[in-house]
Amino acid sequence: MKEAALQFDPQDSIGKIAAVDTSRAVISITRSNVLTRVGIGNLIAIRGTTEREFLIALTERATRSLKDDLVQSEIDPLESNLEIVPSDSLRVVLVGTFRTVEGSKTNTFKRGADNFPQIDRDCYFIEGGNLQRFMNLLGASLPEAERLVLGHFVVDRSAAAIANGDKFFQRHAAILGSTGSGKSWAVALLLERAAKLKHPNLVVFDMHGEYRPLSQGAEAFAESYHVAGPGDIKSPSDATLFLPYWLLNREEMLSMLLDRSDANAPNQASRFHHHVKALKEKSLVREKQFGVMQTFTVDSPIPYSLSELVLELKADNMRKGEGKTGPVKGEWEDKLTRFISRLETKIEDRRYGFMFQPPPIAQEYAWLATQVSQLLGTKPGGKGVKIIDFSEVPSDVLPVVTGVLARLLYDVQFWMSGSDRTPITLVCDEAHLYLPVRDDADAVQKQALGSFERIAKEGRKYGMSLVVVSQRPSDVSRTILSQCNNFLALRLTNDADQAVIKRLMPDALSGITEILPLLDVGEAIVLGDAVLIPSRIKLDPPTLKPDSATREFWTEWGTREPNAQAIGNAVESLRSQTRPGST
Ligand SMILES: Nc1ncnc2c1ncn2[C@@H]1O[C@H](COP(=O)(O)OP(=O)(O)OP(=O)(O)O)[C@@H](O)[C@H]1O
Ligand SMILES: [Mg+2]
Repeated sequence: MKEAALQFDPQDSIGKIAAVDTSRAVISITRSNVLTRVGIGNLIAIRGTTEREFLIALTERATRSLKDDLVQSEIDPLESNLEIVPSDSLRVVLVGTFRTVEGSKTNTFKRGADNFPQIDRDCYFIEGGNLQRFMNLLGASLPEAERLVLGHFVVDRSAAAIANGDKFFQRHAAILGSTGSGKSWAVALLLERAAKLKHPNLVVFDMHGEYRPLSQGAEAFAESYHVAGPGDIKSPSDATLFLPYWLLNREEMLSMLLDRSDANAPNQASRFHHHVKALKEKSLVREKQFGVMQTFTVDSPIPYSLSELVLELKADNMRKGEGKTGPVKGEWEDKLTRFISRLETKIEDRRYGFMFQPPPIAQEYAWLATQVSQLLGTKPGGKGVKIIDFSEVPSDVLPVVTGVLARLLYDVQFWMSGSDRTPITLVCDEAHLYLPVRDDADAVQKQALGSFERIAKEGRKYGMSLVVVSQRPSDVSRTILSQCNNFLALRLTNDADQAVIKRLMPDALSGITEILPLLDVGEAIVLGDAVLIPSRIKLDPPTLKPDSATREFWTEWGTREPNAQAIGNAVESLRSQTRPGST
């Protein structure tokens, strides 16, 4: 038989169970000196109903109170004095059951306590050799291929913290922590680990272009794309991503173009609908796609000409009606003026070029399949981790752009036959920017939210999951967060944000949130179904580090002079809306 992972001598006991409720227990400590070594979140073993069983608990609170007690005199053992003595207790939350032997298996651990601890049972602090064997056991219970090594346990640096890769990505995960707590590094680490697999499939929504280093140099493991900025419109490269307007469905388009407070909004929406449908039909005829023509809708992603749309709308806007005695005011006459002008403004604005000024190739019928297969799959000879840089997308349309892309990928995944689908994860960095709490969302954001919420609710069935990353969990859609099954909670200082995490956790574990503000950079509480017990871990630093732009303010003020020339250049970039170096 294999050696038992947990071995205790009777004299190792630190105390006895004094009180129990459904998920918690209080241990009355008999060896007070141990208490100084016990931190919050440490592991305790409670002797179970048989010799072979231990209930495993996490420490939640240590208390010392003073009480009067009769203490045996050291001078005369027969005499005792009334003295004030410390009385220590430890509150723990039960997380699992460990058995040295279970049927034919040895050293098994399962979540949840099968029995309540019994009063007066001995308790032991899991440390040293016991801790190492126990922690390794948690990782070892996973098949090698499913192991996702995240770092090591804070309580014992020699034990690797391993998560179940399948479970971690299967049902959405969230990485939450204040700014500078190490989220982007954690994302880079996850990507790096995934990239070791043969066919990883992840798309990263990179808001600041900070993951670029992952696709550069000899060790690069990611493919990088960027949404076209004003500088890319004329001569886009292979990595430039366009999201032509015709990919947007009716509601997405209208959320950008329609002013709902305008009395003519219903007319404008209905003419828009009518003409877009007709123009899409015209494209289908030209492409000889007669099959699609039978069933397509106004929302189907079919290229059409925007200038023709403007012409049609203008014609409506000017057309006179015919009365009995001559021309009368037309049905839509002058009702579309403001809609047309908003549309024209968007078309001319170079910042929206990635949407309204796509290159001719992105107007072709076959283009969409090529584009989507690069993102949903791998381009020939390319890599499976795909990073999309959104840093040049204007903030007012960021939600639409991320939403359209997510919806498009999801829709294609949805229509693919189950046996052909490869699972894919969308990593949403800075999610508070485009996945806001619904009540705070404007029309544009609501559209995007809808797409992501659908993935959060139904994506698992179609092999699509989300990793939501945010520094402001309290500003992120509750629907999406509450669908997440795994959490990496890094340092979090804000009360409102901590409260969100607390609500997302099972009741019994909410005490753990109290250490969130105390975590070091790169330290996290990992919890969820991908790990057997919630643990405090130190994440490994990734090999290729994201460009997090942490500046040494004090040092730089001591060494570096501001560069007037560079400021002048930046002013010109601001005017041209083009970063130097991008063409
Ligand atoms: N696992 C780690 N080990 C050591 N240092 C780390 C670790 N993770 C992060 N750091 C340090 O913290 C800095 C900030 O990390 P990171 O950019 O990941 O923060 P962030 O949470 O993404 O912040 P923001 O919300 O502003 O994007 C890094 O530049 C690095 O110096
Ligand atoms: Mg970051």
